[in-house]
Amino acid sequence: MDAFRYSAKTTTTISYKTRWQAPSNIALIKYWGKEKNQIPKNPSLSFTLQKCVTETSIEFQPKPSSGLTFDFFFEGKPNPNFLPKLNHFFDQIRPYVSWLDGYHLTIRSDNSFPHSSGIASSASAMAALALGVMDAEREMDAGITDTLFTTKASFLARLGSGSAARSVEGPITVWGKTPSVKEASNDFACKIDSLHTVFTTYQDTVLIVEKGSKSVSSSQGHALMNGHPFANQRFEQAQQHLHSLLEVMKEGNLDDFIRIVESEALTLHAMMMTSQPYYLLMEPQTLSIIQKVWAFRKETHLPLCFTLDAGANIHLLYPKEHTAPILDFIKNELSPYCQQGYYIEDAVGRGAKKMYI
Ligand code: DP6
Repeated sequence: MDAFRYSAKTTTTISYKTRWQAPSNIALIKYWGKEKNQIPKNPSLSFTLQKCVTETSIEFQPKPSSGLTFDFFFEGKPNPNFLPKLNHFFDQIRPYVSWLDGYHLTIRSDNSFPHSSGIASSASAMAALALGVMDAEREMDAGITDTLFTTKASFLARLGSGSAARSVEGPITVWGKTPSVKEASNDFACKIDSLHTVFTTYQDTVLIVEKGSKSVSSSQGHALMNGHPFANQRFEQAQQHLHSLLEVMKEGNLDDFIRIVESEALTLHAMMMTSQPYYLLMEPQTLSIIQKVWAFRKETHLPLCFTLDAGANIHLLYPKEHTAPILDFIKNELSPYCQQGYYIEDAVGRGAKKMYI
């Protein structure tokens, strides 16, 4: 993406500090399978969340020698576990932010959710970092428009982790080329407007079934889609699902919404179960919750549905107007399946924001 290569017009250097909050997101149409540098094999669509966020401050200090250096603090303490991912992120983005070479960065990051909760933190973490970097770039170059700022932040975030591309804007974004969305790109995510208003306040209660780290990472899972016997059918299905889901989300037809969203979640896990080597990330509690959700829906006719990410946790999706009976159901009947009864009441959000220091 040559459009994103920064050609510094001056040799300006600045000392600058910025702080950004970026949300996590939950895919309704799943990104599963990629080429190099997180170029997705199929388009994906997600709800941007509101409460599951990462806040990251970055202090940029010019330094006399070339080469980028940084210190990283997670929840106030240096944390070497994050260094490989950070080094990889900076290596990937450097061609597009070459000015970073003359800086030392002090990065401090906090999550609103426990790191060990199993919630995907790489999307919010990479998006918050990318936005901080873009903020400094804009400070040096007043010619950076709002559109360039947002798309390049999503682009840089994607280089760190694919799904992070969808954590810049909200409430609903699409990432990956598709004939269904004219402006959609493999390089960055774009916001989808003019959908039915019910989706602008949709609720997402995240049931934490398993807190520990996953036995097979998303990166390994994506790699197993290479040579997967059902890969091509799956990529084609994602295109069709995205097309239908956009129609359904314009009309606000919740029965069809549920049918597509749950099918996407189960297909994602079906891909894992039919990879070579095959594996399972659902736990017995995951299945018990799914059965209970289906029974509840049959009995009450309330439009409650689930989706899954690449793990055992469950995201329960429902319109805001049905919050009271659904939260009662979650508290009384589903929380016993959660680790220490733990769940997070989240909802769709409006995207990342700059915080005051
Ligand atoms: C199942 O974005 O975590 O959550 O690009 O390798 O960092 P990398 O993978 P990642 O994969 C997310 C997979 C998913 C589906 C989705 O969010 O679309």
